[in-house]
Amino acid sequence: MAEVVKSSSRGQVALIQVDNPPVNALSQAVRQGLSDCLERALADAAIEAIVIACEGRTFIAGADIREFGKPHQPPALPAVIDTIEASPKPVVAAIHGTALGGGLEVALGCHFRVGVASAKCGLPEVKLGLLPGAGGTQRLPRLIGAEKALDMIVSGEPIDAAQAHELGLLDAVIDGELVDGAVAFAQQVVGEGRGLRRLSQLPVPACDPNLFEGYRQQIATKKRGFEAPARCIDTVQAAVELPFAEGVVKERELFEGLRAGDQSRAQRHVFFAEREVAKIPDVPKDTPTREVASVGIVGAGTMGGGIAMACANAGLQVTLLDREMSLVEGRLKAIAESYQSSAKRGRMGQAEAEARIARIAGADDYAALASVDLVIEAVFEEMEIKKTVFKQLDAVCKPGAILATNTSTLDVNEIAAATGRPQDVIGLHFFSPANIMRLLEIVRGDHTDKSVIATAMKLSRTLDKIGVLVGVCHGFVGNRILYPYRREALFLVEEGASPQQVDRVITDFGLPMGPFAMSDLAGLDIGWRVRKAQGKPEGERYSGTIADRLCEAGHFGQKTGQGFYRYEAGSRVPKPYPELQSLVEEVSRELGIERREISDEEILKRCIYPMINEGYKILDEGIALRASDIDIVWINGYGFPAYRGGPMFYGELEGLDRVHATICEYRDQHGALWEPSPLLAKAAAEAAESR
Ligand code: 3HC
Repeated sequence: MAEVVKSSSRGQVALIQVDNPPVNALSQAVRQGLSDCLERALADAAIEAIVIACEGRTFIAGADIREFGKPHQPPALPAVIDTIEASPKPVVAAIHGTALGGGLEVALGCHFRVGVASAKCGLPEVKLGLLPGAGGTQRLPRLIGAEKALDMIVSGEPIDAAQAHELGLLDAVIDGELVDGAVAFAQQVVGEGRGLRRLSQLPVPACDPNLFEGYRQQIATKKRGFEAPARCIDTVQAAVELPFAEGVVKERELFEGLRAGDQSRAQRHVFFAEREVAKIPDVPKDTPTREVASVGIVGAGTMGGGIAMACANAGLQVTLLDREMSLVEGRLKAIAESYQSSAKRGRMGQAEAEARIARIAGADDYAALASVDLVIEAVFEEMEIKKTVFKQLDAVCKPGAILATNTSTLDVNEIAAATGRPQDVIGLHFFSPANIMRLLEIVRGDHTDKSVIATAMKLSRTLDKIGVLVGVCHGFVGNRILYPYRREALFLVEEGASPQQVDRVITDFGLPMGPFAMSDLAGLDIGWRVRKAQGKPEGERYSGTIADRLCEAGHFGQKTGQGFYRYEAGSRVPKPYPELQSLVEEVSRELGIERREISDEEILKRCIYPMINEGYKILDEGIALRASDIDIVWINGYGFPAYRGGPMFYGELEGLDRVHATICEYRDQHGALWEPSPLLAKAAAEAAESR
């Protein structure tokens, strides 16, 4: 096995270098290697100082997250760091890339830290549902004060070298070659006879006694549902209130509690899922891509405008097209106002706002799209209209241009067939508001060329979005899973629950909105139109009765001031109203349903389990590449709480055998809509066996 930690010497300075690609994570072998190299350097009388540095693209980026679910193998990281700090010879950390998590904790165990100007330092454990567990919560406040330490530990955001230097986290920013600079720094420390700075022995600088309470209040809404941020605050408070030795015991205890909990398991799953999603077996990383510098957008509605902003934000040239110039101009005005307001609020500079505005031009003639590299169609969600648009695009666009549809439900293959170049057609399903939401469903048609897929995946990164490749089916991954969730929510109301009870259960579970508040926001008329076009399903329970009645009375949700809730003029706050209850009771009576008390537990299972079941059907049909891709769609497109890992991971946490058994019970009670997916049945059998 390759040596993951190497040591050499530069005169009287020992150089310990970690070489564990890709990010020098602190695996057992690295911890052991560090410990061994340190021991040798300490035993060598010729050595006066030690530098710890890394090979490759970064300093140590943290503990090896893959080891967290496995039995612990010594040496423990805190013990290695204690040995570093206890060294009688000065130890200097030489940082490039990102010193993150356990990596920064190693650096904090050193007596001095130097870094290149591009280096970043952070404690991102909170994003994995953890807290820094190797002394970071105790040493960092002693070095930079409790307030700044809280900012770094609770947000998980790294700081750059200049900030780190200003805070005293870095002792020097090295201009030239890092290791040479760090060795020179170590020699200087020895030459000047500077004392060793052991952070554990420093007092924490005095801080505002209300700091912690204020912070707790701040995160209560911002981090609703997440356990780790509050525990991070507890540990920094412990640093202020307890001696170091007791503080680290508390830190370890809270760290271990989080590590073993479901939230961190879920968030670690999301970390890897976000990285897996970019891997497409038959479209490898080196697949050639097409250049995309200019984008045409057809449809100047809210969605088209949001997509235009997303593209302009990423530096792309945009042409926004609609049938009439007045529509386009109205949208361009709204976009300009939005950028100006961002500049006024200090979210971007005035010059930047103007540059973004200038990147978006308007047009009402398809000829304006003749030379663009990519077109994204965002017109009305109707097949015939889309086909007409694509025929026109086919006629004017240059060869090799990518023709994308933003459809959320329609058949991308049918749209592609309206052109003579189906290989260039793909779905790019943005989520509203498109300039903010991170998800991009990339829909692969039967004939979509691999270079078009690779370009779309690259585009998602350019737009700072997370692209998930999905196949063609009604609603793709996200909306297809939304249907049974909404359907059950409606059935529950027919059976005795109230919209606010269902919404409360779902928001308590962690979604930002319940299904009824969400429907009111999206507008009830859209679903009504679709239901009228499709007709009632034969031999299947129909879920649209209550929503139909609301729409027939002209209540479309927020936009008309009434839907499942009532909204006061200018307000988005949903308020229950008595007439809805009467309407619901009337519908139950007509349908012959005896209303009953429904428990919160039943509501949760009836809403979430069909999502899991649908997810398995989607997997079985090959619409999603992996279960974790489905999780990424629902976390980033619909606000499924990351601390539950997404619907598919949540199914695993619940126990797939139990989920399957409950689904079978519901099938027996409610009929075929609950038929379990065969793939879920198989996964359930495996889960039962491994229990
Ligand atoms: N452990 C195990 N694997 C890791 C890892 C880690 N800490 N960090 C990254 N990786 C893996 C990724 O999964 C990916 O693997 P893949 O190629 O097989 O998909 C590979 O390294 C490269 O990662 P990225 O694609 O993310 O590379 P980037 O260059 O975009 O980003 C990074 C590099 C900024 C270091 C980013 O990977 C990152 O943020 N890593 C996590 C850092 C972190 O959370 N550290 C804290 C860990 S917990 C801890 O330290 C506990 C301690 O307090 C006791």
